Amino acid sequence: MAKEQKVRFGFLGAGSIVIHRHALELSQNPDAELVMVYDPIKSRAQRLAETYGMKVAASENALISQKNLDAIVVATPNSEHARLTIAALQAGKHVLCEKPMATTLEDAAAMIRAAEKAGKKLMIGHNQCMMAPHLKAKELLKQGAIGDVLTFRSSFGHGGPETWSQDNGPHTWFFKKEKAYVGSMGDLGVHKAYLLPWLLGSDFVEAGAFIDTKAKRDEKGKPITVDDNAVCILRMANGIMGQLTASWTYGAKEDNVTIIYGSKGQMILGADPEYQVEVLLNNGERARYKVGAVATNTCQVKSGIPDLFVDCILDDLLPPFDGLKGYKALATVVACMQSATSKKICPVQNDLPKTGKKR
Ligand SMILES: NC(=O)c1ccc[n+]([C@@H]2O[C@H](COP(=O)([O-])OP(=O)(O)OC[C@H]3O[C@@H](n4cnc5c(N)ncnc54)[C@H](O)[C@@H]3O)[C@@H](O)[C@H]2O)c1
Repeated sequence: MAKEQKVRFGFLGAGSIVIHRHALELSQNPDAELVMVYDPIKSRAQRLAETYGMKVAASENALISQKNLDAIVVATPNSEHARLTIAALQAGKHVLCEKPMATTLEDAAAMIRAAEKAGKKLMIGHNQCMMAPHLKAKELLKQGAIGDVLTFRSSFGHGGPETWSQDNGPHTWFFKKEKAYVGSMGDLGVHKAYLLPWLLGSDFVEAGAFIDTKAKRDEKGKPITVDDNAVCILRMANGIMGQLTASWTYGAKEDNVTIIYGSKGQMILGADPEYQVEVLLNNGERARYKVGAVATNTCQVKSGIPDLFVDCILDDLLPPFDGLKGYKALATVVACMQSATSKKICPVQNDLPKTGKKR
């Protein structure tokens, strides 16, 4: 695209992530124009359209086939991501798709291939990498601040999506297997399954997990059909091993803490509200950094993801948070789920499958 042009956006989904992050952040970006929105719940589309001066599309296809759009944000329930993303790419649009990118590895692979075939950008909304403590951690790890990394402990939990989603309450799509595919592990665990390889420079290759539904109930008072807690152990290709937990039952306080243990010391991310990055060395030295907080469901922080996507389109750059990394994060979630079912340590299928057979 010519640099003097604005990137014209359409939105599939007018839910919470679009309201709090994508539309809000794009409306503040001088290189973006918000043009059109579709949501099957028309009042949601209308409300967003009124806020940002957009048109409401009559259908998914009406939006996807619009000639005056350059890019589409796919922010629907997880079950719709692959279908809508592929259709948008085939219609010649760049796509920013929310996480988890798909509900099967085959669908995720088809999204990557559709982007390659169309020659369009595909970025996945893995915004944890853009959070200030995680950016600082990456810089410090590169400098060898804690020596060789040996192990990690990372957790992401809050009280659950039923107070966040526009489907507010126990009937939310987040609680339905056919819409979400996976619960806390796909909503929150996938963020850490993406973040840790990005921070530590290696892919997860083996997974073991317990994944259960402990407490959440649907609108009929029955246990929800996806998990609300996941406790996983993971090993990377470079030998680093660690623990990842995801939860929708940490009701009193959101937990987004990662501790990385190295040969010279350890790094604590997101534990101290004032000093979000702390480095404690084995020799007693310590350094603390005030870099800014991670976003929580109740306290939003600019994600930077939409701005980055606009820059990738205008400068014709490969999105740093690309489909393949999204695929590997999903593959880690799938391996954890396979382990929870089989009670075995399972390999992470990091290579794209060759056929379209469902896994
Ligand atoms: N990156 C993050 O930190 C983050 C945070 C929250 C949610 N998400 C992801 O964003 C996506 C949306 O979540 P949310 O929190 O906005 O949920 P939400 O329930 O608030 O909104 C989803 C919206 O999608 C609409 N929708 C359903 N089918 C559609 C279709 N075919 N076309 C267009 N719209 C459709 C629904 O009517 C609803 O308004 C999910 O994949 C979720 O995992 C990501």
